[in-house]
Amino acid sequence: MQISPSILSADFANLEADLLAIRSADWAHVDVMDNHFVPNLTLGLPVVEALVKVSPVPVDCHLMIDDPDRWAPGYAEAGAQLVTFHVEAAADPRGLARTLRAAGARAGLAVKPGTPWAPYEDLLPDLDMVLVMTVEPGFGGQSFMADQLPKVRAVRESVRRFGGEVWVQVDGGVSAQTIEQCAEAGADVFVAGSAVYGADDVGEAIAELRALVKDPGGHTHS
Ligand code: DX5
Ligand code: ZN
Repeated sequence: MQISPSILSADFANLEADLLAIRSADWAHVDVMDNHFVPNLTLGLPVVEALVKVSPVPVDCHLMIDDPDRWAPGYAEAGAQLVTFHVEAAADPRGLARTLRAAGARAGLAVKPGTPWAPYEDLLPDLDMVLVMTVEPGFGGQSFMADQLPKVRAVRESVRRFGGEVWVQVDGGVSAQTIEQCAEAGADVFVAGSAVYGADDVGEAIAELRALVKDPGGHTHS
């Protein structure tokens, strides 16, 4: 079970300090948006190169960009240890995943809420992670889409059948209120932006999320 706080909800004028604040997490989730694939613009390669140098935890780069076939390998070469691209934008998802791995990164494939999983199941041998979006990509602070949980289950089931180690990530609206349902459906990497950076104590928020998924269903609700 891994926690990947999204710095989209961090203070963009103080990214180094806000990265140091999540040193108890497993990853730093960095959302790259190009204003084409999604209607929002965040940051790109030069900023990711700088973040990789100061981050206390490995960088999990979520690329919400057009033409990832062309641009994604640069993020792996910059030192992002996990690079996730959207299948809706990729011309050759298998070839791109292989290129990312060859560049030394783990390769992730993301699916938007309206995108089915089944057509991509046979890509699993070339993937290290599948990201099931639980909001429409583009903005932090949106409401969790519980109707995506069957897709999380389907991905987990595919991974089980495949038999290899492929992580299942959820991103969007993940909080103390929603993280357990995600874990129960089979997710094992949890992105949380506003739930972490919106908390008074960022370290405590990470610990709380971690505790909730440590033993899913194994504790008593009062
Ligand atoms: C949305 C981004 C998310 C975002 C999540 O497109 O991919 O990573 O930061 O933010 P929260 O956790 O606030 O929904
Ligand atoms: Zn993201």
